[in-house]
Amino acid sequence: MTDSASTAPAHPGLPATGRSTAELLADLAALRAADLPTRGRRTTAYVYDSGRPEVRAAAEQAYLAMLEVNGLDPTAFPSVVALERQVVGATAARLGGDDATPGIFTSGGTESILLAVKAARDARPDLTDPELVIPATAHAAFHKAGAYLGVRVVSTPVDPAGFRADPDAMAAACTDRTVLVVASAPSYAHGVIDPVAEIAADAARRGIPCHVDACVGGWLLPWLADAGAPVPAFDLSVPGVTSLSCDLHKFGYAPKGASVLLFRDEAMRLRAYYACAVWPGYTVVNPTVQSSKGAGPLAGAWATMQALGEDGYRELGRAALAATARVVEGVKAIEGLTVLGSPDATLVALGTDADLDLFALADESRARGFFLQPQLSVDGLPANLHLTLTGVSAEGVEDLLAVLAESADAVRPLGPPRPPADIVALLEQVDLTELDNATFAALLPAAGIDLSSADGPARMAPVNRLLDALPPTVRELIATRFLSALYSPHLGG
Ligand SMILES: Cc1ncc(COP(=O)(O)O)c(C=O)c1O
Repeated sequence: MTDSASTAPAHPGLPATGRSTAELLADLAALRAADLPTRGRRTTAYVYDSGRPEVRAAAEQAYLAMLEVNGLDPTAFPSVVALERQVVGATAARLGGDDATPGIFTSGGTESILLAVKAARDARPDLTDPELVIPATAHAAFHKAGAYLGVRVVSTPVDPAGFRADPDAMAAACTDRTVLVVASAPSYAHGVIDPVAEIAADAARRGIPCHVDACVGGWLLPWLADAGAPVPAFDLSVPGVTSLSCDLHKFGYAPKGASVLLFRDEAMRLRAYYACAVWPGYTVVNPTVQSSKGAGPLAGAWATMQALGEDGYRELGRAALAATARVVEGVKAIEGLTVLGSPDATLVALGTDADLDLFALADESRARGFFLQPQLSVDGLPANLHLTLTGVSAEGVEDLLAVLAESADAVRPLGPPRPPADIVALLEQVDLTELDNATFAALLPAAGIDLSSADGPARMAPVNRLLDALPPTVRELIATRFLSALYSPHLGG
């Protein structure tokens, strides 16, 4: 390490002379000590662990083998085309398409969704005010796509008990400006599959394309169906479905940066592409938002699929399904906890029928080694804790239930969540857009947030209680302010 005064770097973050790989890896290991574990069964969101060291090794090595290949120009690096054709082809074959189904390998669900919305918008150049009709439970990526692409998002209410999209409400929201309607298979927040066939049929009658967001479910549901789960048709085999997104970096168990966007027809895929020849450099033609891009994620996804094979995915699906059934059953025995709706996949939202402080429960579980993801109330849909159960979850399911039961016992005496009324009132009056980062950061301790902790905020309940009590627009302002403060080193420790 070069930390003496004489060798202090002139440029922060850049050493005066190069450092050894061993030192760098030691730095990374130290930094990662505060991260959630990425392997095993205790992180029930963000990560998807196949639990198979040989599969991980194949992905790692394939990723590294393609580390320096640039997907910018497929004529310069034809390996990218060959791999992408295989990955897209395998995905299409499992999701109602075939080897002629047009697709794009993208960096993730959000990019797939952005491109699906771009393709639909660009199919209607006659419209100056295009609209996108979604169920309220659709992923935030559709709101992001609307914001980035200038498409108005029309959100429709879902069935308040089952959390599924309401096809009638969606049909009623369609106008002659609607460029796309959306269904989730399943939704992330509640893990339920929307009535895809009805939504797509109505869209087709109106001549409107229909996108199925199978980002989380696309590479899971077919294997659950093989394991005997009742999975309604949701893919390109359903008449009226015109595009579908399926993330391989979720239940494909591939390293991050891997999703596939499928189109029913070639003309739609063309509209997702972008070309530019009005500048003096090389002619740009991109299938994705990124232009230069490493081929590592593509190779990692390809290798993971090849290393697991159908049998591997089927086995992981079976294990995840068994874990989910056990969680749903086990939660019934925990006083105050419920499962929201009837999950169709292996994603579960835990709610409360006794006003338990779920945010405190998440902290208690985290202190006992299990991460559960808080989801705030919105549009009349209750706050809950999210669990994604994967192929490795089955091994730890009894530990998880024991932790949930202990955590529920610990928070029951607290009663319902009590947001800090004074801070809520203050935040409702302050114009957050006018605050500078330093003033905002100075407010954080009052809300129980300590930016100076190297380990990140240990207790998130105060933050979640506060955010939950505020309208979504204020939450968004606070969240962006928080991010800005977090990335401002002079405000932290
Ligand atoms: C249903 C669904 N759609 C879209 C996304 C966005 O995917 P990403 O985080 O890869 O951009 C997710 C992520 O969880 C999802 O579950």
